[in-house]
Amino acid sequence: MIHETMIENLDKKNQKAFEGGGRERLTKHKKGGRLTARERIGVLLDPASFVEIDRFVTHRCTNFEMDKKHIPGDGVVTGYGRIKGRLVFVYSQDFTVFGGSMSRTTANKICKVMDLAAKNGAPMIGINDSGGARIQEGVEALGGYGDIFFRNTRFSGVIPQISAIMGPCAGGAVYSPALTDFTFMVQDSSYMFVTGPDVIKTVTHEDVTKSELGGAETHNEKSGVAHFAAENDKHCLLLIRELISFLPNNNLEDPPQKDVEKVEGRFDTSIADLIPDNSKKPYDMKELIKKVVDDAYFFEVQAHYAKNIVIGFARLNGRSVGIVANQPQVLAGCLNIDASRKAARFIRFCDAFNIPLVSFVDVPGFLPGVEQEWKGIINHGAKIVYAYAEATVPKITLITRKAYGGAYIVMASKHIGADVNLAYPSAEIAVMGAEGAVNIIFRKQIGESESPEETRQEIINDYEEKFSNPYVAAELGYVDEVIDPAETRGRLIDSLEMLVHKRESGPSKKHGVIPL
Ligand code: HXC
Repeated sequence: MIHETMIENLDKKNQKAFEGGGRERLTKHKKGGRLTARERIGVLLDPASFVEIDRFVTHRCTNFEMDKKHIPGDGVVTGYGRIKGRLVFVYSQDFTVFGGSMSRTTANKICKVMDLAAKNGAPMIGINDSGGARIQEGVEALGGYGDIFFRNTRFSGVIPQISAIMGPCAGGAVYSPALTDFTFMVQDSSYMFVTGPDVIKTVTHEDVTKSELGGAETHNEKSGVAHFAAENDKHCLLLIRELISFLPNNNLEDPPQKDVEKVEGRFDTSIADLIPDNSKKPYDMKELIKKVVDDAYFFEVQAHYAKNIVIGFARLNGRSVGIVANQPQVLAGCLNIDASRKAARFIRFCDAFNIPLVSFVDVPGFLPGVEQEWKGIINHGAKIVYAYAEATVPKITLITRKAYGGAYIVMASKHIGADVNLAYPSAEIAVMGAEGAVNIIFRKQIGESESPEETRQEIINDYEEKFSNPYVAAELGYVDEVIDPAETRGRLIDSLEMLVHKRESGPSKKHGVIPL
C-alpha cells in the first residue's frame, strides 16, 4: 500500500524542484519582465499538456564543494507536451540554478528528450538561458555540449528543431542554436556570442557592449544568425507556436492542412496596379504576396536581414507553402551574398520538410561590386541554384517583372527543376537590361552613326520589343503560361493542387557537396 506519508514526501520533493534556485534568485530573474523556465513552457505549450521528465536528476560533480549543492533538475526542465494538439518535445534552461549552465547531467537530460523527439518524429524546441559550460565540471560539461551538437546534426532534416534564446548564450551554448532550423531572440534580454566583450577587449582592444555584439537586433539585422526578434518572452513563445503551425512533425509527414470552406478570392484586379509602368520604379513585393495567399497572412522569416529577398510561410488553399521573393524595394531586388545565403537555407529547410516552394521573381541580376566578388558571391550565389535544383518538393515560379541574366536561372527557373513557371505580361526575360545590352553589342555601330543618341535609342527600343517580354520564353516552353495578374491566386492554387502528390528522387548518393 502506498501511504499518505509517501505521497507527502513526493509532494515535498516536487516542491523543492519547482523552487529552482530559490526565491531570491527567482525574484532577481523576473525583474526585467522575464519568465521563469517553467512559466516559459507554460506559455509555449497547450494548457496542462506538459509532462516533465527527469525532475529529480542532480549533478554528480564534487569539485569546489559542488557535492554540497544539489538542486533537483540541475538547471534544465525537460519533457513533452502539445502545441495546438500536436506533440512536441522541449527543454527550458533555468538560469536560477547555477546560471542555467550546462553540466554533464543537464546535457544527458537534453539528449534524452532529443532522442525521444527523433524516435517519435516530433519537433524539438530548446529554450536557452545559460551561462555556458558548467565551469566547475570542465571537460565533462564540454562533452555534454558535443553530445547535443551531434544530435542536432543527426536529426537535422528529420524533425524540425527550434531554438529560443531567452537570456545569455555564450561559448559552446551558441552552436546548438546555430545547428537548429530557426533561432528566436528576445529584444533587450538575450545575447549570443562565441566570445564576450571582455575577451574581445583583451584580444583585439575593441570596445563593444553585450547587446551591440550579440543582441537580438545585431543577430537579426547584421549577422543573420537569428530568424526572429521578439518583443518579450511571451511574444517569443507565441511566435514559436505560430511557426510550428506551418510545419510537419517530421520529414515523413506533410504539413497540416488548414480547413478552408471555399477558396476565396481567386480573382483580384488590383494586382495589376501594383506593378508600376516604369520598370525602374520599385513596388512592395510583400503587398503582392499578401494579395494572393490565404487570409492575406504571410509569416515572414528573417524580416530584418537581407531585405532584398523576402522569405516566409503562408498558405494556399489551406496548404503550407514556403515563399521566396525578390524585393524590388531594396537594392532593386538584386541578389547579393546575404540574400543568397538567406534564400538557400530556407529553400533547403522547406525541401527537407515537404513544404512546396512558391517563388516570386523580380530580379535585375546579381549585385555588382568588388566587395561582393572578394567575399565570394560566386560561391554564395551558387547556393541558391544548388538548393532549388536539389529540392524535390513542388516548385512554382511566377515572374512578375525582371528576370535577367544568371538571376533568371537561379530564381527557380524551368532549367533548374521548377514544375510550373508562370509570368505576367510585364515580365522582362533577357540576358541583361536593354541599355546595358545595346551598349555592349552595338557600341561600334552607335559610335559610327551620324546621330549616336538617336541610334542608341532606336536599338534599345528594338531590343526591348524583342526581349523585354515573357513571350520568347513562353514560345520556348521555359514559361508555361503568361497570366493576367488578376488570376494569380487561382493559378497558384491550381498549380499547387496539381503538384500535391509530386514524387521525385534524384540519383542515389551519400550526399552532395553544396558550395558552403
Ligand atoms: C557555473 C555559472 C556559470 C557557469 C553563471 N554561473 N555562469 N555557474 N558555470 N558557466 C552562476 C554564477 O556563479 C551565479 O551563481 C549565477 O550563475 C548567476 O550568475 P551571475 O554572474 O550572477 O549573473 P549575471 O550577472 O546575470 O551574468 C550572467 C553571465 C555571467 C553573463 C552569463 O554569469 C557569465 O559571464 N558567466 C560565465 C560565462 C562563460 O564564460 N561561460 C563559459 C563559456 S565557454 P550564484 O550562486 O551566485 O547565483 C563554454 C565552452 C563550451 O561554454 C564549448 C563547447 C564547444
